Formats: sequence, structure tokens, C-alpha cells
Amino acid sequence: MPARILDGKALAQTIREVTAAEVASLRREREIVPGLTVILVGENPASQVYVRNKQNACNAAGMVGRTLRLPADISQSTLIHDIERLNADPMVHGILVQLPLPPHLDERAVLSRISPRKDVDGFHPENVGLLASGTPRFVPCTPLGIRELLIHGGVETRGAHAVVLGRSQIVGKPMALLLLQRGEGGDATVTVCHTGTRDAAAYARQADILIAAIGRPEQVTADWVKPGAAVIDVGIHKRADGRLCGDVHFPSVAQVAAAITPVPGGVGPMTVAMLLRNTLQAAIQS
Ligand code: GUN
Repeated sequence: MPARILDGKALAQTIREVTAAEVASLRREREIVPGLTVILVGENPASQVYVRNKQNACNAAGMVGRTLRLPADISQSTLIHDIERLNADPMVHGILVQLPLPPHLDERAVLSRISPRKDVDGFHPENVGLLASGTPRFVPCTPLGIRELLIHGGVETRGAHAVVLGRSQIVGKPMALLLLQRGEGGDATVTVCHTGTRDAAAYARQADILIAAIGRPEQVTADWVKPGAAVIDVGIHKRADGRLCGDVHFPSVAQVAAAITPVPGGVGPMTVAMLLRNTLQAAIQS
């Protein structure tokens, strides 16, 4: 039987509607309008699309979504100066620096200058540490969205063996930490595979929940997947024929898995929905 589809587009829409209602009551009761500023450095075409989606989603939820466009050759000190101005602006509750940055900029140094209480991406070392120590404040949006998909899709994480393919700061590492947390959407036994892993497919085949965040098109084929597993695909790539695909070879894996996220329409829309939630949280806590 082909796998059940974990529909991120539909769930994200529901979450966005609920968030919009909460934004309206925050405005009514406390006269606070959540504000998010996204900083886009340079003209990376994919980043431009992502940033536009984030800004539009904010505005549609009744928040103030703004984009600060900066030239690709901006100096690190000027960029940090702009971040500090936003840190001090009471109308701005969330700040997000779209990645990747041009190579002359030190990503880690830049992200650490965002106020940790406005760091809706959850990349500041203080927020990374809070997640790692089991008392999360802001959690990166993609792993947070995946956890929601698992919970709402009826995928039991407690006691499950979750295998995360990829150890990035944006997805792999925080995903593993979330799955390890106590409580709903957590309590999993977690394995993280990466470029140094010998025979990642052998680990993947042991997964009840397989999360592919590798960055290589259609790498995960049916022989990587245990029958009945839930498969989450974080990748998004353009194939030679112009169609979009993920890190998972959907046609074959959907014949083996019990549940699977599509690309597009799986993890991507959930990431944006979680950004809205994090921005609302930042405004509530301001
Ligand atoms: N680039 C790719 N994913 C992300 C993300 O979640 N946040 C930011 N800031 N940049 C990204």
C-alpha cells in the first residue's frame, strides 16, 4: 500500500490561521503588533524567494513583515550596526538573517549579534544552548515544523528509533535535540548520520522515523527505508527536467514507507508557519 502523505501545506495553513487569530487578540488586548525584519544580503535567487514568502506570510497573519535588503559587498561592521539598530527598535520583535551570507562575512559572528530574545531563527548560541540543555526558548523553524508534522500526522516518536541524515546547525543538530526532548514529539532514540558515517544506508534501514536533510537530490532510495517507516524529506532541488524533488526518491520510497512528506508541500510550508509562531512568541514575551 502506498504511503500516507504528511500534508505540510494543509497543516501550515491551519497553523497560520490560528496564529493570525492570536495576533489579532494580542493587538486588541495589549496593543502589540508583532514585527519581523528579515535581513537579506546580496541577491541569491533562492534566498530572494524564501524572504519574500516569509514577509508575505507575516503580513497575511496581521504582523508587520519587513525586509532589509543590503548590498552583497556590505562590510561585517556595517551589517552588525544594522542588526544593533534593529535590536534596539521596540517595533521589531523578531530578526532573521537569511543564510547563506556572502563568503566574506562570518556567519557565526553575525548571528551572535542578534538579541537572543529577538532570534526567531533560534541560531544564537544562547538559544542553541537552551535547546541543548532541555529548556528551549526559540527553536529553529524547520525542525520545529517537522515535529508538528509528526505529532499531527499521528507518528509516535516515543520509543521510536529516529535517524537524522545530516548534522547542520539549521536542521540536523536541532532536529536530533528536539527528538531527544522529554514529552510530546520527543522521547525518541536518535542516531545522527553525516559525511563521516560509514554506510549511512545501513543506519537509515533501522529507522522508524527517517529524516533526510542531506542536500543531495533523490539520494534516499527504497533500499534505505524500513517497511512501515515515516520518512521526512527536508531537501528541495530542481531536477534537470525542471521539476522539484527532495533528498528522497519519492516514487520508490512511497511504496515502502507508511508515511512520507511530499516535495513541494511538505516541510517547506511548515518552516514558514513556525517562523510566524516564533515571531508571535517573541512579541508576547517582549
Ligand atoms: N537558509 C536556509 N534555511 C534557512 C533558515 O531556516 N533560516 C535562515 N535564516 N536562513 C536559511
